[in-house]
Formats: sequence, C-alpha cells, structure tokens
Amino acid sequence: QKLREGRAPLAGRRALVTAGPTHEPLDPVRYIANRSSGLQGYAIAEALADLGADVTLVSGPTQLRNPAGMAVIRCETARDMQAAVHALKQQDIAVCTAAVADWRPAAQATQKLKKQSRNDVPPPLALTANPDILAELSQSSPIRPQLVVGFAAETENVAQYAQAKLKRKQCDWIVANNVGANSDVMGGSENEVMLITSQTSDAWPRLSKTEVARKLAVAIADWFSRFL
Ligand code: CTP
Ligand code: CA
Repeated sequence: QKLREGRAPLAGRRALVTAGPTHEPLDPVRYIANRSSGLQGYAIAEALADLGADVTLVSGPTQLRNPAGMAVIRCETARDMQAAVHALKQQDIAVCTAAVADWRPAAQATQKLKKQSRNDVPPPLALTANPDILAELSQSSPIRPQLVVGFAAETENVAQYAQAKLKRKQCDWIVANNVGANSDVMGGSENEVMLITSQTSDAWPRLSKTEVARKLAVAIADWFSRFL
C-alpha cells in the first residue's frame, strides 16, 4: 500500500497486460484453444501494480482468480480481446502475454454440429486469421503506448526468431522463451526467458514466473526512469 504512494516507480503510469489463451468457438459446445494457463501474464500484471502502475488485465479464459488492485476484463475470443483493448484509454505500457489463437473457425455454427451417420466423413475445418493485437498496439500511433512488450514462444532459434518477430510487429521488447520438447513452460510455474530488444539480447536464468514478472516490471520501471 505504501509503495503505491509517492515513491512507487510506476505511479501514474497506465499499463495494459493481455493474458491467457483465447477460445475460438466452432459451435455452441466446441472451441479451439491452447495450453496457456495465464500464470505469467497475471504475475506481470501484479508486479506492475506492485510498482505503482494503474493496471488493466485483459484476460482470456483461465482458472485463475482476478488479482486484487487492478481492473480485470474477461474475454473469450481474440476478437473480444481486441475489442477490449481498443476500448481502453491510452496506455503508457502494454505487455502482451496472451496466447492469442492465430486462427479461428471460419464459420461458427449456431447449433451443435451433428454427425449425419455412424461412419460419415468428418466435416472440413476451415480457419481464418485472427487480428494481431500486439502488432496493432505497436502500430497504433499517435496513441501508441511508449513501451510495447510482446512475448514469443519458440521451439528453436529463439533469439533469432524473436528478433524477427520484434521487427515484424514493431514492438519494443520481446520476452522470448523456449517451449521446445524438454520444456515444461506452458502451464508450469517456472520460466527461462531472454529479453530481446532491437539492439540487445539478455538471457535470464531459470526463475519462477513470479520472479520473471518482478524482473520484467523492474526493467520497465528502469526504462521509464532513464528515457522519459
Ligand atoms: N499476439 C497477439 N495477437 C495475435 C497473435 C499474437 O497479440 N493474434 C502477441 C502475443 O500476445 C505475443 C506475441 O504476439 O506477445 C507473439 O505471439 P506468437 O504467437 O509468438 O507470434 P505470432 O506472430 O503469432 O507467430 P507464430 O507463427 O510463431 O505463432
Ligand atoms: Ca501465434
């Protein structure tokens, strides 16, 4: 509580954090999803709030409780998440941790899809692209947040792919992690990440997701104290 008054390094800064997976419905009872737990994003939202930021957490479906001390907006699909982000007032910081589904079913049936007979051919699953929320935020001048941070889960060439992603989306930093075969990052409680900027890449040791969140929040606070 004391931290939030006066000397808190991110006091007066608005921060948006996206977190969790998205669910993309196929019909009223089925959806496409992914294994994101939301843990890392929620931890980052809490760490930013602990440094005094005015945090809005925009979360896809998770099993996690709403963290205290911030606004929480729950959404289901990528397009819901996009709309929630667009409805916010201008942010100083955006941290996009959400594992947004890249594609959604091209059509959403209003009734449950039914088998026609016992051994009929399965229906084809046509997909269409979802909006890229991180890229939109990064390219949202003149209301672009001063610092836009993305996440990248890669299974190989982590630093290289993350740097390419940073350029393509035009965000400022990427927190990259290796989710390769031997990794238990998705859903796990630890994370081993690299912080990538357009100029630098810094490998962090394996830490709990809470510690990664604190370290990232401190790096963000440092950046604001040095550059703005
Ligand atoms: N992201 C987003 N909206 C999307 C897809 C991704 O906001 N539709 C954000 C994620 O929150 C993350 C970053 O973009 O911060 C990178 O996500 P990732 O899935 O690694 O990147 P993609 O561009 O989707 O590339 P890939 O083909 O590797 O999945
Ligand atoms: Ca993706």
